[in-house]
Amino acid sequence: MVSIVVGGHYGDEGKGKIVSYLALKDDPKYIARAGVGPNAGHTVYVDGKKYGLRMITCGFSNPKSQLLIGAGVLVDIQRFLEEVAMTNTEGRIKIDGRCAVIEQEHKEADKGANSKKIGTTGSGCGPAQSARVNRVAKQAKEFKELADYVVDVPQILNDAIDAGEDVLIEGTQGFGLSLYYGNYPYVTSKDTSASTAAADCGVGPTNVDDVYVIYKAYMSRVGEDPYIHYLSDEEIAATPAFKKLLEKAEKEGIEGTSNQKIARVLGEVGTVTGRPRKIGSFDFDLARYSAKINGATKICITCLDKLFPENAGVTEYDKLSAPALEHIRRIEDKLGVKAAIISTGPGIYDVVDLRDGN
Ligand code: GTP
Ligand code: IMP
Ligand code: MG
Repeated sequence: MVSIVVGGHYGDEGKGKIVSYLALKDDPKYIARAGVGPNAGHTVYVDGKKYGLRMITCGFSNPKSQLLIGAGVLVDIQRFLEEVAMTNTEGRIKIDGRCAVIEQEHKEADKGANSKKIGTTGSGCGPAQSARVNRVAKQAKEFKELADYVVDVPQILNDAIDAGEDVLIEGTQGFGLSLYYGNYPYVTSKDTSASTAAADCGVGPTNVDDVYVIYKAYMSRVGEDPYIHYLSDEEIAATPAFKKLLEKAEKEGIEGTSNQKIARVLGEVGTVTGRPRKIGSFDFDLARYSAKINGATKICITCLDKLFPENAGVTEYDKLSAPALEHIRRIEDKLGVKAAIISTGPGIYDVVDLRDGN
């Protein structure tokens, strides 16, 4: 069984949390990181400890799984080695020798005028990708410090698939950030759909069984993107959940525009800058389109507790509040796909798992 997890909106949907849950619940033999590179920032809580991961899959939560980084991924060597130590995964993590490596010059170039215009993460991914396309980027197998980690990821995964083992592939960013399908040029340096995640790891499309597309219960966005519609004062006034959040922010004396106040009570602030993210209501059109292009077989809705706080930590469908259930049903209707997992908190087991047999 091969499953892929990707983001259905603009990244930060909580893919990391879902992957850390699936890793423990479904116990796959191999978990492979796909996607762009260390521009991703997944936050997960494992055994009560907070981890911020940019290179290693959040599936490290399962100590029995073997961890891989697919050939399509850009590698920041220093960051990779730091995360191996941080997660204590030495011995069970390997990377494909053909991964392109991000070097200092790429990080410098990612501070330039065009990167500022797009609002990139500054991680060097765009310039390294560009060097790769120009066939001048170095590959992981050329670096001595990676010698102990280098393997042929597609060979390992395809052997596992032939042997009937389970494989989980973790994508990064979100559909709206795809180089092909997002709001170009306000996008990342690669396609972010499930097909590309499979290609990143050398898994053929006919071998993929499930595509999990992850959506947050509302929208948040970092970076500069003039095409996105953000919550207006009128929309806030017309949406009870947002109205309540605004009232809460005002009670707490939070300052700024209504959008910024809501971002702060939701905890949607940039981890580096501390600036509030831009908040919007659920974009059904984008979600429907991304479910189609990703070939979604399962959708997950995260941060339900942030929009409807009375649902924090709920693990049973019947215990979800009426407004939360109405929101979920509306998403399911518009997308034509049933919710498989609903996330009600940042903890790994803060989930309602509606998949067969659960
Ligand atoms: P990218 O690869 O950077 O797009 O990240 P991501 O999709 O893995 O999401 P990220 O970890 O950046 O952001 C999600 C945040 O929400 C993290 O801080 C999670 O701990 C948190 N989170 C995830 N699911 C839930 C949830 O259901 N409820 C709450 N309250 N927090 C959640
Ligand atoms: P880059 O991927 O660093 O080149 O950034 C390009 C665009 O994608 C910018 O708008 C970033 O804010 C956005 N982006 C890249 N990675 C992530 C992510 O993991 N979460 C959210 N936004 C991201
Ligand atoms: Mg993130």
